[in-house]
Amino acid sequence: MLARVRATGMMSSPSSQRLQGLVSRAYRLPGGVLLCLLCLAAQGATLPTTLPAASMPEAAHVCAACHGALGAGNASGVPRIGGMSADYLAHALSAFKAGRRRSKTMQPIARTLSDADIDTLARYFAAQDPPLAPSPQPPSPDWVAAGKALAFRGGNKSTPACFECHGMNARDDDQRAPRITGEPAIYVVNRLHAFQARARLGTFKPGSMTEVASKLTDTEIRNVAAYLSVTPPD
Ligand code: HEC
Ligand code: HEC
Repeated sequence: MLARVRATGMMSSPSSQRLQGLVSRAYRLPGGVLLCLLCLAAQGATLPTTLPAASMPEAAHVCAACHGALGAGNASGVPRIGGMSADYLAHALSAFKAGRRRSKTMQPIARTLSDADIDTLARYFAAQDPPLAPSPQPPSPDWVAAGKALAFRGGNKSTPACFECHGMNARDDDQRAPRITGEPAIYVVNRLHAFQARARLGTFKPGSMTEVASKLTDTEIRNVAAYLSVTPPD
C-alpha cells in the first residue's frame, strides 16, 4: 500500500527543521545535486508503507526519509532497522547520542533525541516487518552460497558461524548480538570494515564482534554480505 506523506505536521517543530537540514546535508553531493528524500516527501512524493502515515510517531518521519517508513533500509547502505529488537535499537541510538558509536550521519541526529523519543522510535521500528530492501542487482549465486556456509558453519582461521551468536529471528529479544539477516550488503560490508578498523587499533575482548571481524577475509565479507542481503528474517 502507498501512503502520501505530507509536509504539514512533519516539519513543523524547530527540531524537525534542524533534522531536515541534517538530512539535506548528508545527501548533498558534489556539483550541488541534492538527493533529499525528505524534500521529495515534502513535495507530496509517495513513500511505501503498510500503515497510514498518521500512525507513525512524529519523531519517526525524519528516520523514514533514509530508513524507509517501515525501516527496510536501502541498497546504498542505510541499515534495515524494522523488526529489530527494541532493546537493540534503543541501545544503538543511545550509543550514537553519547558518541560511543561513531557515525557522521547518525550522531547529530541521535543528539536531538530525548530518552522518550528513543523509546518511542525503538518500539515503533521494532514492531515493523518490512520487505527486503530492493537491490539494483542481485548478488552472484556463488557468493550467496559461500556466504550461507559461513553463516551456518563458520569459515577459515576458525571463524565461528555467524548464527552461533546472531539469532536468525529478529525477535530474539534482549540479545546483544542483533538480527543480521535482511541487512543491505553495503551496510554489512561497512560495519565489518569498521569492526576490523577497531581491531587494528588494539586489544579486543575474546568472543566480541571485533575479534570475529578481525578473522574475516574480504572474500568472506563479500559473500556473507551477499547472503544476508537476500535472506529475509524468519
Ligand atoms: C540521513 C539518513 C538517515 C537518517 C535521517 C536516519 N538514519 Fe539511522 N542510519 C543511517 C545510516 C547511514 C546508518 C549507518 C550508520 C553507521 O553504522 O555508520 C544508520 C544507522 C542507524 C541505526 C543502527 C542500526 C544497526 O543495525 O546497528 C539505528 C538504530 C538508526 N540508524 C535509527 C534511526 C532513527 C530512529 C532515525 C530517526 C530519528 C534515523 N536513524 C535517521 C542513516 C540515517
Ligand atoms: C561470538 C559472537 C558473535 C559471532 C560468532 C558473530 N557476531 Fe556479529 N556481532 C556480535 C555482537 C555482540 C554484535 C554487537 C556489537 C556491537 O553492538 O558493538 C555483533 C554485531 C554484528 C554486526 C553489526 C550489526 C548491526 O546491525 O549493526 C554485523 C553486520 C555482524 N555482527 C556480522 C557478523 C557476521 C557476518 C558474522 C559471521 C561471520 C558474525 N557477526 C559473527 C557477536 C557475534
